[in-house]
Amino acid sequence: MSEMQNIQWFPGHMTKTKRQIQASLKLVDAVAEIVDARIPVSSRSPDLDKLIQNKPRVILLNKCDMANQTATKMWIDYYAKQGTTAIAVDCRSGRGLNKFPQAVNTVMKSKIERMKSKGMKNPMMRIMIVGIPNVGKSSFINKISRQNRAKVEDRPGVTRGNQWFTISNNLEMLDTPGVLWPKFDDQIVGEHLAFTGAVKDQILDVELLAVRLLDFLRRLKPAEFINRFKLEELELDNTDSYDLLQIIGKKRGMLISGGEIDTGRAAVMLLDEFRAAKLGRITVEMPNGEWQ
Ligand code: G4P
Repeated sequence: MSEMQNIQWFPGHMTKTKRQIQASLKLVDAVAEIVDARIPVSSRSPDLDKLIQNKPRVILLNKCDMANQTATKMWIDYYAKQGTTAIAVDCRSGRGLNKFPQAVNTVMKSKIERMKSKGMKNPMMRIMIVGIPNVGKSSFINKISRQNRAKVEDRPGVTRGNQWFTISNNLEMLDTPGVLWPKFDDQIVGEHLAFTGAVKDQILDVELLAVRLLDFLRRLKPAEFINRFKLEELELDNTDSYDLLQIIGKKRGMLISGGEIDTGRAAVMLLDEFRAAKLGRITVEMPNGEWQ
C-alpha cells in the first residue's frame, strides 16, 4: 500500500504543512492531538513529538462512538501511566467535549501556577488542534466553537488569518488545525487507516483490503459481525478469509451472471459496514498490541 504516500502527501506538501505547524506552535501553550479511538497507533503522526517538543499535550480519542468502550478505557489508562492526559470524545454528537477545558487545565497546571506566582491573576492559555487527515479536526473545532458560542477575533500582532475563539475563561483555541501525516512506510498502518476509511479506496485493492479486515475480524470474532452475517455455524479460525468473503457475499445475494459471487461488491459492502460501525464498536489497535 505504498501508493498511499503519493496520493495524499508529497515532500513539498509535507514541508509546507510542517512549516505552518511550526509557525502556529509558536503562538500556543499546548497542543490537543486528535486520534481515531479505533486505531490510536496508526492515526498518530510519527513526527509530532519532534515538532511539539516539550509542549504539554492532551490526546483526544475521537470517534469513541465507534470504538469499543473497554478498549477506549484501556487506552486512557495506558496514556495516564505514561503521564499523558487523554479523554474520549465524539465530535459528531459533541459527547465528552465538556471534559476538554479541565483536561487542558490539568496539563497546563504547572505553567498556570508559575504565571500566577508571577502575579498574573488569570493567565490565558492558548491551544491548537493537530492530527492526521480525517480524524475529526474540523468536526472538533466546529463543535467546540459552537458550544462555546465562538467569540472569534482577529488579533493584531499575530500572523494574519489566525483566529482565536474562547473556550473557557482562561482558554483560547486557534481556529486552524495543524495537519500531520501518518507513518507512511508501515504497511499495517496503511491497512488500518484504510479499514477506517481515512485513506481513500480508489488507491487500494478493495478485495485485498476486505480480506485483511476479515483476517482481523476472524480472530476477534465480534458478536455483531457474527450475527449480522449469520456466521454462528462457521469455524472462523479454520476458514480462509477469501472464502469467508465469498460466504458473506453469497449470504447477501451478491451474485454475477453464472452464479459466481461478486466478491468486489461484497468487499465494498463489508468495508462500508465496518466504517459505519454496523459490525460492532470495534477497536482495531490495543495498547501493547494485545488484540493483534
Ligand atoms: P479532519 O478535519 O480531521 O480531516 O476530519 P473531519 O472533521 O472532516 O471528519 C472526518 C469524518 O469523520 C467526517 O465524516 C466526520 O463527520 C466524521 N467524524 C468526526 N468525528 C466523529 C466522531 O466522533 N464520530 C463519528 N462517528 N464520526 C466522526 P464524513 O463522512 O467525511 O462527513 P459527514 O458524514 O459528516 O458528512
